[in-house]
Amino acid sequence: AVVIHRKMKKSGKWVKAMEIVKEFEESCRTPISKLKQVADAMTVEMHAGLASEGGSKLKMLITYVDSLPTGDEKGLFYALDLGGTNFRVLRVLLGGKDGGILKQQFKEVSIPPNKMTGSSAALFDYIAAELANFVAQEEDDFKPTSGRPRELGFTFSFPVMQTSIASGTLLRWTKGFSIDETVGQDVVAELTKALERQGLEMRVSALVSLCYGLLLSTVYDLDILQLTFELDTVNDTVGTLAGGKYANNDVVVSVILGTGSNAAYVERAQAIPKWHGLLPKSGEMVSSLLIAISKLCYLESAVSVGHYYVSNMVYSSSFKFSCIWRILRGSYSILLSNHVSDMGVINMEWGNFRSSHLPLTEYDQALDAESLNPGEQIYEKVISGMYLGEIFRRVLYRMAKEGFFGDIVPPKLKEPFILGTPVMSAMHHDTSPDLKVVANNLKDILEISNTSLKMRKVIVQLCDIIATRGARLSAAGLLGILKKMGRDTIKEGEKQKTVIAMDGGLYEHYEEYRNSLENCLKELLGEEVSKTIKIEHSNDGSGIGAALLAASHSQYLEDES
Ligand code: GLC
Repeated sequence: AVVIHRKMKKSGKWVKAMEIVKEFEESCRTPISKLKQVADAMTVEMHAGLASEGGSKLKMLITYVDSLPTGDEKGLFYALDLGGTNFRVLRVLLGGKDGGILKQQFKEVSIPPNKMTGSSAALFDYIAAELANFVAQEEDDFKPTSGRPRELGFTFSFPVMQTSIASGTLLRWTKGFSIDETVGQDVVAELTKALERQGLEMRVSALVSLCYGLLLSTVYDLDILQLTFELDTVNDTVGTLAGGKYANNDVVVSVILGTGSNAAYVERAQAIPKWHGLLPKSGEMVSSLLIAISKLCYLESAVSVGHYYVSNMVYSSSFKFSCIWRILRGSYSILLSNHVSDMGVINMEWGNFRSSHLPLTEYDQALDAESLNPGEQIYEKVISGMYLGEIFRRVLYRMAKEGFFGDIVPPKLKEPFILGTPVMSAMHHDTSPDLKVVANNLKDILEISNTSLKMRKVIVQLCDIIATRGARLSAAGLLGILKKMGRDTIKEGEKQKTVIAMDGGLYEHYEEYRNSLENCLKELLGEEVSKTIKIEHSNDGSGIGAALLAASHSQYLEDES
């Protein structure tokens, strides 16, 4: 009788665990009809975010990138890529037309967890020190030939409200970073200060306002170009867009699926209502000119008052001529470096998207409530690499509490984030007949041994539910962008190609996720349209892309000789 009782108890636990899995699976369902609603919601939020500041949960940040690399970029450029648990420093030597990327070197360093939640200075000093170290090891064949300063593209992959390509305020941290004092600060200034503390020869300072430069150049006959040390700051999505475009001209959208998730795309200037009034490029030029002209008038009137008394007409006209000449030259250089563009790259910060159509479970709600940023980045928390493994742990923990692993709950299962997405992916991809990889990981990480094959199969099923939901929801997000761009249908007589540049560890290494995303996007678009849309892996776009943008936005023209 005792034996029978035990069996029943055991099977009762099994049934309970299966109920949990079933319920979870049910609330994670993503039928096509639901995904289409998610896509529509994304499109609506995109419109709202572009219409006004704060108009939507989607920030739709203006990046001040209004041109993408052309392939003509030439010379040595550095990039610094901070956006997750690792950061990288890299340098590339660009060969200009037909030359491409001649040479590149990089170094990847992981960020100690205490630096992610400590002080601003500690984080930026750590980064600046690594960069200083890397620059010190520059080999001769990288050294710039001309006397121009080294330029740096800074990929800072958090929500940043930019005021130019060279400055921006941190809106909030995401992805496990949490340093209160940095929020609201100019991250470029933070980095600059840290670089200065390192005594780095590559002096970096925020872009000297062109208006100021123009004034100085007209009045003091200084060369505007000599005033500018440049550090361009971009989001990883923007870097990936630039890197993708460099490789394939049809790239117009980029998506990061890594620790966090986000997208950027090329938008028409007229479709960004909140940009009006800012008009950074043309507006800046006009106001610079106005100031310069009024300065000239002021000088002129001072001079003419002088003339009235001295009657030195010869001096007067040559002075006037030289003033006009300086203004023309100054505005010409502004025009050259600041052509007015009809497009702008938008950093969507789609991680913060939320909608009642998202299939959220009790586990997602608990994860969010206990996170460093409750109520924020809801979409990111169901699709990106930082969280998939943690959702998995939470469901397993719940099952363990119902006796799935026996009478005691394995203590390791109580530790948040102990199951990383790479481990989950390894279990999900286990093709061995007895699911050895699953068994080994359970043993090594959670100290759970003696699982049956049946149990391990359920565990793989859990991975599948979580990854599939994430992948399909990201496909829906992508459909939302394509809709906004009018690229979800084929227009009569148009042979338009749309390439999406993708990057991030999740996309790169989690094959099941990647396949599920790609298949789902096809399903959503239909066969015909699918043929015009292509996803390309943009390898290391965020780093190289930032260097390319630093190059294409450079004020220093490489000596052709
Ligand atoms: C987070 C950041 C965003 C970044 C993304 C991918 O969502 O807020 O800026 O692009 O992660 O790294």
